[in-house]
Amino acid sequence: MPLDIVILAAGQGKRIQSRLPKVLHPLAGKPLLTHIMNTAQQLNPEKIMIIYGHGGDQIRAALADLPVQWIEQKQQLGTGHALAQAMPSIDQNAKVLILLGDTPIISLPTLQQLLASAQNSELSLLTAELPDPTGLGRIIRNNAGKVIAIVEEKDATPEQRQLRETNTGIMVISARQLTRWLPALKNNNAQGEYYLTDIIAMAVSEGININAIQANSYEEVLAVNDRIQLAQLERAQQKQQAEKLMRAGVTLLDPARFDLRGEAQIASDVTIDVNVILEGQVSIGANTYIGPNTLLRNVSIGENVIINANTVIEDAIIENNCEVGPFARLRPGTCLKQGAHVGNFAEIKNSEVGEGTKIHHVSYMGDTTLGKNVNIGAGTIVCNYDGANKHKTIIEDNAFVGSNSSLIAPITIGENATIGAGSAVRGNVPANALAITRAEQRIVEKWQRPAKKK
Ligand code: UD1
Ligand code: CA
Repeated sequence: MPLDIVILAAGQGKRIQSRLPKVLHPLAGKPLLTHIMNTAQQLNPEKIMIIYGHGGDQIRAALADLPVQWIEQKQQLGTGHALAQAMPSIDQNAKVLILLGDTPIISLPTLQQLLASAQNSELSLLTAELPDPTGLGRIIRNNAGKVIAIVEEKDATPEQRQLRETNTGIMVISARQLTRWLPALKNNNAQGEYYLTDIIAMAVSEGININAIQANSYEEVLAVNDRIQLAQLERAQQKQQAEKLMRAGVTLLDPARFDLRGEAQIASDVTIDVNVILEGQVSIGANTYIGPNTLLRNVSIGENVIINANTVIEDAIIENNCEVGPFARLRPGTCLKQGAHVGNFAEIKNSEVGEGTKIHHVSYMGDTTLGKNVNIGAGTIVCNYDGANKHKTIIEDNAFVGSNSSLIAPITIGENATIGAGSAVRGNVPANALAITRAEQRIVEKWQRPAKKK
């Protein structure tokens, strides 16, 4: 039987109190809607439809490259009304899986189990026992334990509110039945909405059997209605990601203080200290150590690398055996070749640092190509910007740049050349030469320092 998936995402999300549509709020660095889309795609459906409404232009623009059919719900009259908008596009022979845009981390295995249970049923529900069911629809069962209805909390009696089994909002229904049931929904309830959940009682009154299965964990069916729930879900997702990495051989010194907001390829025997944030696409080779309070965004790091505490690296490549930080900042376009060292308070941008080269302290290298085994003294600055244009600096193999030098680009420092400390160098320096622009030293004997007036 063909599978069609409908993701309901038209609601305003009032309780999130935001100008950004709720389903675009990021969870682990990606919009809620992207999470649910990724999972939906893995079920290989015939078709995925997203019902959008509030903030529709923003949503379509943010997720323009998704292979989905966008269906507008002009007025948000309830979940039943939302699903009805998709019916003209749905294959009458299909099973329809209904997902919610605000329930983003539902797992693939749970959905596969729900679909399996729907094979021999017209209506299969995913339910969950939540520690706190406040605000959710409750599952009503008869004495024989069969599901007979879903009652929304706002419509529930005090006794019904005591029930812990809740509706996750995720269900599988055959299209043919939906075509009959949806037009029959009424909105005579506490919220004046056409509730999709009312079709349960309709099915029961027709003698149709309802399958209900429980989610594998309650975390995966948590919905985001406000920012408190968003933060809870973020923690749940981070915990899952951290456990996956630890199972693959990565040491996280404290998984509760590790955040992955993107995709990470991390080899075994990598150690990650506390308060590390990985964003975008990050890869880390075996035996590498990432020190505390470090931010890595779109970074590829090799094997046996040491990244010391409080380092920020963005759009950069760090090859094997390098050491970086503490307190280093590597900006976009930085590449450290094997065994390079970059120490504290060094900033590097759009530069290649050759094999074995050392930039140990308080330096700026921008638009610079450094050869092998170069030594950059403390306080060395490349003056790459003349106020209008950026210029390149080339520092060849084995050059030695003394402390507190300014290299005024464009400039080339030749192989094995030496720059005397404190120099401002603005012309090319040939190989093997010494360049020094320092003022002569004067000595004034028995110098009297001024004394304070009485
Ligand atoms: C819904 C269920 C409730 C369930 C809960 C699980 C109904 C009536 N209630 O309640 O039983 O326990 O989810 O989280 O179905 N939406 C539209 N168009 C609309 C209204 C909603 O697309 O007109 C979308 C929303 O964007 C959201 C989803 O449907 O993604 C659920 O709507 P929401 O208003 O959050 O329903 P709940 O009150 O949470
Ligand atoms: Ca909700």
